[in-house]
Amino acid sequence: MLKKPLITIVFGTRPEAIKFSPLILQLKKEKLLRIRIILTGQHTEMVTQVLNLFKIKEDYNLEIMKNNQTLTHITSQILNKLKIEFTNYKPDLVLVQGDTTSAMASSLAAFYEKIPIGHVEAGLRTNSLINPFPEEANRRLISQISTMHFAPSKKAFDNLKQSKVGGKIILTGNTVIDALFYISKNSLTNYLNDIDWENKRIILATVHRRENWGKNIENICHAFIKILENNSDVFLIMPLHKNKLISEPIKKILLNHPKVKLTNPLSYEKLVEVIKRSTLVLTDSGGIQEEAPSLGKPVLVLRETTERTEALEYGTTKLVGTDIENIFENANLLLNNEVEYNSMAKSINPYGDGTASKKIIDECKTFLKLN
Ligand code: UD1
Repeated sequence: MLKKPLITIVFGTRPEAIKFSPLILQLKKEKLLRIRIILTGQHTEMVTQVLNLFKIKEDYNLEIMKNNQTLTHITSQILNKLKIEFTNYKPDLVLVQGDTTSAMASSLAAFYEKIPIGHVEAGLRTNSLINPFPEEANRRLISQISTMHFAPSKKAFDNLKQSKVGGKIILTGNTVIDALFYISKNSLTNYLNDIDWENKRIILATVHRRENWGKNIENICHAFIKILENNSDVFLIMPLHKNKLISEPIKKILLNHPKVKLTNPLSYEKLVEVIKRSTLVLTDSGGIQEEAPSLGKPVLVLRETTERTEALEYGTTKLVGTDIENIFENANLLLNNEVEYNSMAKSINPYGDGTASKKIIDECKTFLKLN
């Protein structure tokens, strides 16, 4: 009997786990193919948290993580370890997601073994090679060697067309919206009960990007203090990334502030719930720029550039960079001017309608001649 085709899905960080989970759940229902789930181990707890939530178990973990890991460490470990995995299991297709170094190194490992690659969330660009670093380079590299490019938006689709990449480009929407719909089915109430949700306006803040390590994080924290001092009913919730290079400087400035709650990384469902209950979101995260507009919350983006330009154009997100005064003035305006606030607090879905996973699976089946 002929063996069913094998799709191997490789990922390593929290955002990849969130965006792959709805796709994996649907792939598991497919009778005509096999799947193998490989974690690189670039993140540990932060990925486990997501997989537990979606009730997904990996088949194998490359376990590469070490503290303060370098990009070279991540890349070389993944290349070496996936070579063995791919030689042993010979997948017919490898799926990678996004622009992390796990995704880039995994696609290169597949390319070296001449295995076709499907790139989920392909075509995002800022057009500045070093911003975000190293993600812009990662996603461009993956585009060069992929067979199928699953574009999350029309803009991403056009970017890929314009750059004349080989392979097939398919507009699918972003699986983050599939994940958001899946999680939003259940409403959570029983946590962060020490927060006075009724009488306070909440700002949710997250920071993790490499470009913001160092001076930028300090500026961002000082801007938060200024916002809190000028708005008596405003309270800040900030889940901290596991990376100490990020969390330590934040703790130094904000730990004992009476209007700030620093927490461990929140599970995805809790984070979504906090977005829903917040007035405003300040973040350098890519995923939150996609989720918050769908939930009708204004986002001030703590970066100089963004690849999520659709929400910028709709006016639900705004780039404010890392200058103290600029962050303060933009946040202060939204907190004190209803017209400005309402013009940003629109619920829109430029990133998908919850059917991205299905479209991706249909394309994979066609590619594997199962349709
Ligand atoms: C990585 C991705 C980034 C993505 C982000 C999401 C790269 C180069 N960067 O950045 O694109 O937006 O994930 O979070 O691929 N750590 C833990 N436990 C964990 C996770 C991280 O302790 O579960 C600590 C480790 O000390 C690790 C450090 O965080 O060295 C940094 O992790 P790393 O994956 O190198 O970079 P991120 O900033 O998380």
